Amino acid sequence: MSVTVVVLAAGQGKRMNSDLPKVLHPVAARPMIEHVLDTAALVSDTPPIVVYGHGGEILKARLAHRDVRWAEQREQLGTGHAVAQALAQVPSQGDVLILYGDVPLLTASALAPLVAAAEAGGIAVLTAHLADATGYGRIVRGGADDAVLRIVEHKDAGPAELDIHEINTGIMVVQGALLHRWIPALGNDNAQGEYYLTDCIAMAVAEGRNVGSATLADADEALGVNNRRQLAEVERLYQARMAGRLLDAGVTLVDPARLDIRGEVSCGRDVVIDVNVVLQGRVSIGDNVRIGPNNVITDCEIGDGVEILPNCVLESASIGPRSRIGPFSRVRPDSHLGAEVHIGNFVEIKKADIGQASKVNHLAYVGDAEIGERVNVGAGTITCNYDGAFKHKTVLEDDVFVGSDTQLVAPVRVGRNVTIGAGTTVTEDVEADRLVISRVRQKTITGWQRPRKDKA
Ligand code: UD1
Ligand code: CA
Repeated sequence: MSVTVVVLAAGQGKRMNSDLPKVLHPVAARPMIEHVLDTAALVSDTPPIVVYGHGGEILKARLAHRDVRWAEQREQLGTGHAVAQALAQVPSQGDVLILYGDVPLLTASALAPLVAAAEAGGIAVLTAHLADATGYGRIVRGGADDAVLRIVEHKDAGPAELDIHEINTGIMVVQGALLHRWIPALGNDNAQGEYYLTDCIAMAVAEGRNVGSATLADADEALGVNNRRQLAEVERLYQARMAGRLLDAGVTLVDPARLDIRGEVSCGRDVVIDVNVVLQGRVSIGDNVRIGPNNVITDCEIGDGVEILPNCVLESASIGPRSRIGPFSRVRPDSHLGAEVHIGNFVEIKKADIGQASKVNHLAYVGDAEIGERVNVGAGTITCNYDGAFKHKTVLEDDVFVGSDTQLVAPVRVGRNVTIGAGTTVTEDVEADRLVISRVRQKTITGWQRPRKDKA
């Protein structure tokens, strides 16, 4: 049966102390509500309805790339009132799944039993067992089958109810037709003067319906974000989950708590990742790759057997098999390194193709360049690619040897097997197999004395 998802996201998030609407605060570098929308997309094929209140324009702009229906809740009068704002867009056929925009760790696999539990009576709630249930609605059960009878909000609860450790996560499934009947009938005669969505449970029981329930195996999935402490806690739990997946897939993590994944990472076999590594965007890592400490890798494709030594920043690049990068290398976007390439310390590569077995080992800038195979770029070599207005290209063909401290003034092409003497400024194209050198001849002056200060 089809499921319509309603995401409640109108809460102000006052305790975040922020100008940004709460649900846009990031978890793993993406607005937390996007994690919720991803989960929604796994259980429903119709666009979710997002109930928003504060910061509607910012929210709509930031989620413009997603297929979402919007419902405004001008005043936050409770979860039942929030659902009421979405009701006009909710079909009577099929089930409605209510999610919270500030509960980003919930997985689709935890929702399947909830949907199943709603089949019999048309309604089911997702519960969790918490050692400290403070603040949560309590699940009151009774009768021969210990069925759910009602949910009592913390502020409305008596001493016996406060002792209950099974809580309402807030997530529930209700048949559309029932929601259309019950929501308009909700009252607000309670401790907070709010329209409680949870009062639907008692309505179902009054109709003689069986209220289904599913209990989270991992209560952390229900964690909501109300302040920055909880945001940080949710981030760590999310990261632990991501690290756990890599471990299960056969990746060695020297410390699973010191890896951060902000995107999608795929790893081959026998990959080793050392401490303080950040992987962002789409990163694909081949077999037998070793990533040293303190590396930040964004949107990269890393071939088999690559070794990344400590302290590198790599972005939007492909690194060929068995290449060795770092320590202290920066590889910037649009760089494509072939197999067995070596990039060393204090080297910056930008928008460059570098062929197999070429080396740029020390203190160099290679930008807007096409470098052939087996090229050796000496220490201190600079491609002078920018004339103040335009970028120009440097081409080094196969087997070129670039001596140290060379400037390659682009546009310039250096033919195969050319040797460039140290200290040369190459301003004109060079044909294959030549030696090119532009260097002031050495002068040696005999009997020279450095000026000296007289010692008083
Ligand atoms: C609600 C449940 C409670 C449950 C708890 C889990 C009710 C009456 N209570 O508590 O049983 O244990 O969640 O966290 O449902 N929202 C709106 N508009 C509103 C009010 C809330 O969109 O007018 C949204 C919030 O943005 C949030 C969610 O609904 O995403 C829950 O609101 P919150 O105030 O945190 O929950 P409580 O009502 O305290
Ligand atoms: Ca909350």
